[in-house]
Amino acid sequence: MASHGATGRQQQPPLTDPELREEEKRLAAVAAAELLHDGMRVGLGTGSTVAHLLPAIAARGLEGLRCAATSPATERAALAVGLRVEALEDIGELDIAIDGADQVDPAGWLVKGGGGAHTREKIVAAAARSFVVIVSSEKPVARLGPPVPLELVPFAAPVTLRALEPSRLRDVPPSPDGGLIADYLGLVDSPGALAERLQATPGVVEHGLFAPEMVSLVLIGEAGAGVRRVPGAKR
Ligand code: 5RP
Repeated sequence: MASHGATGRQQQPPLTDPELREEEKRLAAVAAAELLHDGMRVGLGTGSTVAHLLPAIAARGLEGLRCAATSPATERAALAVGLRVEALEDIGELDIAIDGADQVDPAGWLVKGGGGAHTREKIVAAAARSFVVIVSSEKPVARLGPPVPLELVPFAAPVTLRALEPSRLRDVPPSPDGGLIADYLGLVDSPGALAERLQATPGVVEHGLFAPEMVSLVLIGEAGAGVRRVPGAKR
């Protein structure tokens, strides 16, 4: 039988962990949407946290926003809530890009690409004067770890993967740009050294390590506590 409090109202069951994480994503997304102003040029990331961002932006009712999407899924979802989406090359420089992340370390390094969209996400983040990362409370980690997402040129992809053992192809469709999505599964002792090695490996289009110099602000949703703001290195 459901219990009743002194008010006579039925008590809600406590939120499950997945429900708490969703609420944290929503909190971070709403805080990011509040950073926007009329007329801004906005990069939209990809993923379940960004899924909370799009309606939060639409709810602001801002005038003249111009958005660039990092994936077809984000473009469809943004259009569905009434946002104006244009090609990045037609907008040019962005005022702000907002995106999720899979891991954030204390120095500000990110691992991104859980959804395989990290190549476009990195291009959009780099085109933005300010890059804001929105995450739930389990994403900050003491040390980055595998998997680190990769996008590979399809030609001789097994050869590229052999140069990066341990790594494996992901069983997902190619990226919209025709790249194969894979994961590097080795340790991430030094994110900077690993980023250089991945970037220097022929056949790697892009990897999911984002340097602290790319990040302006991390917004961390914390259930029951609101949003923690961690400034990044990009000013
Ligand atoms: C997609 C990404 C996402 O931002 C990242 O995987 C986080 O996703 P989510 O918000 O669903 O936890 O990099 O390529």
